[in-house]
Amino acid sequence: MTFPVIDGGRLLARLDAFAAIGGTPAGGVNRPALSVEDRAARALLAGLGAARGFSVFQDAAANLFLRRAGADNDRPPFLIGSHLDSQPTGGRFDGALGTLAALEVLETLEDNGIVTAGPIELVAWTNEEGSRFSPGAFGSQVHATGAFPSGWQDTLDGNGIRLADELAATLAALPEAIERPLGRPVTGYIELHIEQGPLLERQGALIGVVEGIQGTRWLEVTIAGQVAHAGTTPLAARRDAMAVAAAIIARLQATVMPADADARLTVGRLTLAPGAVNVIPGEVTFSIDLRHPNGDQIDRLETEVAALATEIASSGGCRVSIRRSMDVAPARFDDRLIDIVQGAAEKRAFPSRRMFSGAFHDALFMARLGPAAMIFVPCRDGLSHNETEFVEPHQVIAGAQVLCDATLEAMRVFQSR
Ligand code: GLV
Ligand code: MN
Ligand code: MN
Repeated sequence: MTFPVIDGGRLLARLDAFAAIGGTPAGGVNRPALSVEDRAARALLAGLGAARGFSVFQDAAANLFLRRAGADNDRPPFLIGSHLDSQPTGGRFDGALGTLAALEVLETLEDNGIVTAGPIELVAWTNEEGSRFSPGAFGSQVHATGAFPSGWQDTLDGNGIRLADELAATLAALPEAIERPLGRPVTGYIELHIEQGPLLERQGALIGVVEGIQGTRWLEVTIAGQVAHAGTTPLAARRDAMAVAAAIIARLQATVMPADADARLTVGRLTLAPGAVNVIPGEVTFSIDLRHPNGDQIDRLETEVAALATEIASSGGCRVSIRRSMDVAPARFDDRLIDIVQGAAEKRAFPSRRMFSGAFHDALFMARLGPAAMIFVPCRDGLSHNETEFVEPHQVIAGAQVLCDATLEAMRVFQSR
């Protein structure tokens, strides 16, 4: 079998074009899920695919698919892709790299007249980030389970806009896409992504052969105290929700990660009400992002968070409630597909290392549907979810080449049976 060489210049130009959609003055991207910018990126992708003769589909979760037909189109497709939504101060590679590299693979097959045994599809998953609407990896979760997460229609963004309304508007914005049912069988799935951490760069590796993804649980903690006058209320009478929240967060930061090098705990969002300089806050809500490669440890950490929050809140005269807004168990990828990715890197003589992913990805859910794997490339200083996120052009091209080679090999192994 011949393995064609991708067009690196075309891919780099595409990355530039998509980075301009929601581009920020600091060189990053602000393209929230289901926003006007997200719709513009989806429309551009659909147009580029249609121009090459690929069929365009979307499902009820607004997952967008570009399909290149194979010899036998009754076979389930092999999927490659990632996402186009970004963090509010996101980088230009997180998600876009894997999505546009997938387009480059489809175009390379087209340019070289390669006939695959079955169809290949690019997928751009909806709302991978989860920062506008929880949970993250929404589209792939809906695809893998064939249903929407419970209560999803009531999910609001920070401005009170409903997910269901934005989803409907996003679907309507691409009338040329053919509707398809949720959750179809697949032959396999490979996703290229930036590592979003420092390991590849530190070890001088060009390709990360990803063996799995650690678990993630998001908690929303609400502390209820009493609104009162800042100047007149003595210490003993204060039920200050902010003082309690600060104490809880400080204790968690001082204990959880120092005690377990594999644990990750982040408080990334905090709101307080009423939010006036001279009023004691009556309510504080903050997020906790908990991660660990071992699912039992996530359970243990959540129990620890709940016990600590209850103890500190009651000593501060407040009540606490905790709600889960995302819960994804760790996943291990398919050994055969992991070996195919490793083999593809070795054939191109790209230094590689095996690793686990600290970030969650849509591949987590795809691993429940069939063989799945991921390819990582380094990013400068390990920085991501940051406007300065950067991947060297040769790293972009190497990652896309491995995606192309591994996909063709995986289709040969899994699709021609
Ligand atoms: C994905 O964006 C994550 O937070 O891991
Ligand atoms: Mn991503
Ligand atoms: Mn991300």
